[in-house]
Parts: sequence; structure tokens; C-alpha cells
Amino acid sequence: MRIETRAQATQRDETDELAPVRERYALPDGVIYLDGNSLGALPAAAPARLAHVVSHEWGQRLIRSWDEAEWFTAPARVAGRIARLIGAGPDEVAVADSTSVNLFKLLVAACRLRPDRPVIVMHRHDFPTDVYIGRSVAELLGRRLRLLDGQDPVAALDRDTALLALSEVDFRTGARRDVHAVTRAAHDVGALALWDLSHSAGALDVDLAGATADMAVGCGYKYLAGGPGAPAFAMVARRHHEGLQTPLPGWMGHADPFAMSPEHVPGPGVAQLAAGTPPVLSLLALEEGVATFEGVAPGVLRQKGSALTQLFIELVDARCSGHGLRLVSPREASRRGSQVSVRHPAAYPLVQALIRRGVIGDFREPDIARFGFAPAYLRFADVWDAVEHLRAVLAAAEHADPELPRRGTVT
Ligand SMILES: Cc1ncc(COP(=O)(O)O)c(C=O)c1O
Repeated sequence: MRIETRAQATQRDETDELAPVRERYALPDGVIYLDGNSLGALPAAAPARLAHVVSHEWGQRLIRSWDEAEWFTAPARVAGRIARLIGAGPDEVAVADSTSVNLFKLLVAACRLRPDRPVIVMHRHDFPTDVYIGRSVAELLGRRLRLLDGQDPVAALDRDTALLALSEVDFRTGARRDVHAVTRAAHDVGALALWDLSHSAGALDVDLAGATADMAVGCGYKYLAGGPGAPAFAMVARRHHEGLQTPLPGWMGHADPFAMSPEHVPGPGVAQLAAGTPPVLSLLALEEGVATFEGVAPGVLRQKGSALTQLFIELVDARCSGHGLRLVSPREASRRGSQVSVRHPAAYPLVQALIRRGVIGDFREPDIARFGFAPAYLRFADVWDAVEHLRAVLAAAEHADPELPRRGTVT
């Protein structure tokens, strides 16, 4: 159904099979939240769960809770739930640390699986931490980092390539790469393929098994709604478990942590990717985030996310033209994640003017206003209203208001 009026947007929401999933989040009144790709919304069950964990499990039961409240097995439990959302087996995913740290572990592990190949291929415009970590790993292991600059990643692959590590969705533009085709091309030259799924998990129909991807990492605090600084995930395909060797062999990744042995015996498969003690409070908040996806098929999330971003683009085209906005994200839905980015010379104040009206997006250098569409809790009517606010901001040049907040540290 084409949506040309607000009433049609509301009608579409009434038939949305994900409408009940929105109830699993505690969203503030008067806010249209288009930043769930940066920090996901609060799961409705999280405050009570965390209050219980703090006051009872920690406060009363103290160290007994590691067993009794199943803190010790929480990383594997949460990993199993994330696995379903990214098309991996529960035994192929670990939850630990940050995406940056997991990337370090997996880049090193991947290079060790390809000892004779000197090159790591990454993209210059991928999330900066990925490039920083890639450069450091290359230096530490005496490999070369080949940084792509806009060109087709497939063209950069050759028999020297140990691995290709890319984001599925470009954090700036929202462009989506073809994980299946690129992974196949990496395998054709004997290289491994590692995917950063930070802007995919919880929004797209990720199918790591179908794509025969080798490894993946991703954030827990974006679409997965794990809360600020939530632990991240790491995936290693089962066929690589045997040769897997983490560069951070901590006691929590030991086969028997309480043996307190001076020799590190790695835990089975991805269990060795745990380095130190998990951040239990954050981890259990992430468990509530991931639980909001219970019974939700990734394909349904993807379909709705595509429809939301499509509607946003069409409405911006129709209602906001003539004000200097330029679409950066691909128009073709299959090449786009759950995000729409637009360029505007005054993108920063534009985003601030929208935030003042309760429409929260964010800004990325140099001139990008970025809007994320979390399919689990956004409505078609929200998209309609957000574009109406954008139209009003542009029409009245609200972004030129000197009273708008100045640039903060977090944009
Ligand atoms: C694509 C991508 N990779 C990695 C990161 C960094 O994640 P972390 O802060 O967990 O290291 C981010 C953070 O926004 C990201 O967007």
C-alpha cells in the first residue's frame, strides 16, 4: 500500500505484525527516536531486571550469584540469542568486550589461519576503530593493510590476501554491501571474510551461514538495545574452531578457569574469546535488549526497515525539496541498511533543530544528517511526523537559529 497521507501511515501501523514488539520498549513521550542505530531504546523490562540484579543478586546474594543467578553462563545464553539474529549457530557466537576488542581478537586469529598471506584488506571509510585496529594488527604481525578507497572490494582481492574485513552497512551512508557475493569472492582467492555487523544485527536479515562468512563482530548497544557500552559479539564459523587462537588468552576463556593453571588451555570453540570477567550489569541489560526480539524473524525486521526507509526517502523527496538536502544513501532498498543519510551544508544545526522538536537523529562529519530506523519500535506514522518536522525546520530556517545548542562532544 502506498502511503500518501498520515491516515494511511497510521493504517499501515495497525496491520504491522511488529506493532506488539514496540510495547517491549519504554519510549519517552513526545520523542521520535531515529537514533536506534547509535544507542538503542530502553527495553521495558530492563529497569526492574537491573534493580533486582543490583539489590538482590549483588546486594544480598553477593558472590553466590555467579552460580545461583546464572551470571557465569549469561555470556553464552545471550550469545545464543544473538546467533539467531545473525544466522549463526549458538556455538559460533561469543559475547564479550567491545566491538573494537573483538575485532582485534578476530583479525589476529584470522591472520593466524592464513600464515603465508601478507595482506589484510579493509575500507578506509569504514568505522574508524576498524581501520585503527586493522593497522595495529598489520603492524604487530608484520602484515600489510591494503585500504580501499571507494573501489569495489572484490577488485582488491588477490592470492596475497589473508582476509577481507568490512562493515555490512556503511555507518555514514547506510549503504549495504552484498555479504554473500563479497564473501564468495574472498573465498575464490583463498582469503577469509570478516564482517562488522554493528549496523545490521537486530535490523537486517543477516545470514552468516548462508553467506558462508568466516567471522563477524558487532555492537550490542545499537539495534540490539543492550544499553550504553553494552558488551559486543564475535562470531567464528564452526569450521575454524579447531585452528582458532585468540591473542588475548584470559582466564575466562580457559577451558577450566578455576583450575588456576599457569598454562592456558583454550575453552572449546568461541569460548576462548572471553578474556576477562564479563560486565554482568551490562550483560544482563543486553539480555533484556536481545529478549525484545523473541519470536521476531530477522526477515520481518528487514522488510519493515526497508519500508520505513523507503517511505522516509519518498516523503523527503516530495515534501522537502528546494532546501539543499541531498540523499547520500542508496535509493535502491536492497543496497541500503535501515538508515537514511542526507547531506546538508548546515547538517549539524539542522539535526539540533530537529532534536529541539523531539526528532532525534545524529550528525556525522562533514555534513551528514543521519537517521536510523529501528524496525522493532518505529512506526510508519513516526516517519510521517519526522518528515513533517524536517519540512517545518527547513521552511522556517530553524537551523539558522543562534540559540541552538553548540556542538557537543558526542554528535
Ligand atoms: C561499524 C562500527 N564498528 C565498530 C564500532 C565500535 O564499537 P565499540 O565501541 O563497541 O568498540 C562502531 C561504533 O559505533 C561501529 O558503528
